[in-house]
Amino acid sequence: MLDIPFGDLRRQTQAIRDELDAAVCRVLESGWYILGPEVRAFEEEFAAYCGARYAVGVASGTEALQLALVALGIGPGDEVLTVPNAGVPGTAAILLAGARPAFVDVEEASHNLDPSLLEAAITPHTRAVMPVHLYGRPAALDPILEVARRHGLAVVEDCAQAHGARYHGRHVGTLGDVGCFSFYPTKNLGACGDAGLVITNDPALAERLRKLRNYGWGRKYHSELPGGTNSRLDELQAAILRAKLPHLEEWNQARRVRAGWYDELLSGAVQTPAPSPPGEEHVYHLYVIRCPQRDALQTYLREQGIGCDIHYPQPAHLQPIYRHLGYREGHFPVSERLAREVLSLPLYPELTRAEVEQVARAVRSFVEKIS
Ligand SMILES: Cc1ncc(COP(=O)(O)O)c(C=O)c1O
Repeated sequence: MLDIPFGDLRRQTQAIRDELDAAVCRVLESGWYILGPEVRAFEEEFAAYCGARYAVGVASGTEALQLALVALGIGPGDEVLTVPNAGVPGTAAILLAGARPAFVDVEEASHNLDPSLLEAAITPHTRAVMPVHLYGRPAALDPILEVARRHGLAVVEDCAQAHGARYHGRHVGTLGDVGCFSFYPTKNLGACGDAGLVITNDPALAERLRKLRNYGWGRKYHSELPGGTNSRLDELQAAILRAKLPHLEEWNQARRVRAGWYDELLSGAVQTPAPSPPGEEHVYHLYVIRCPQRDALQTYLREQGIGCDIHYPQPAHLQPIYRHLGYREGHFPVSERLAREVLSLPLYPELTRAEVEQVARAVRSFVEKIS
């Protein structure tokens, strides 16, 4: 048992247990469990929170990305550009939509898509770009949108780690054509199971997404759109998310405060996250440091009873199952280097100052030991 676990969802659950119990009871007593009033209400509340016109709840963040691409008419023969350092959900979603993933390397400081490399990656088959707001930090949307618009590409924002992050005053997910969210339990806004959602300002796109999540049905038992599947958000998850949404801003602020404590306590010892430029509001889904002796540091922290994790140890282009895409080592040097050096420290709104100090002390003692 670790002294300081990497994540501890029980702390959040206990803090709002009465609200969650009320939400769950409401659904159990309603007798309606899939795509009902709770889902509709959550869609409205989440869209209003983000400043988007429409929201469509789906079963996961991966399917939010997949169905967003299908709704945009992207499929076989098309290419979608994304980053190699954000795990595999984006790559999987592009393949599930029938398209081909292609990668653009990331910036050393932000860990996000490097807009200066975007134009060179575009081919006659490219139809969309999927920037990821990784770790909760907004990607450089202005230059990405500028290139995308000039080349007629759709922009699908992967906001799975960035609920509530703003880019020059606007919520991420509202600047591109669609914003895709995951409510996996550990996310800044997390369900008690799998859940996802797509936001858009385009009424026709929202309508297609509503059909696609339910076999492409226009009306019951009448499939109108190809590419549909079962990706429905259930009432229990929607009710739980409705109970949690009013807390999101305060939780994000608590994450920022704890990130600030780490910045201060780790300064000079290891490479801490680069500060965000003015106008970009980071929501610190993860607090990710860099250390050339990362694996040894991870082992040391575990020995000290401190949980930590790697996001992510293998870039998507080097995963054996994606070998057929034709990439190899050296194609995306920044992503490859980051995969060797990044380490995520515990960060959640309920983490105490004493715990942050204990983690920072352990990191500093490791650095002293090896220097
Ligand atoms: C960046 C990113 N994109 C997409 C996803 C996929 O979300 P889900 O796990 O809900 O399918 C995740 C979460 O796992 C993620 O971190």
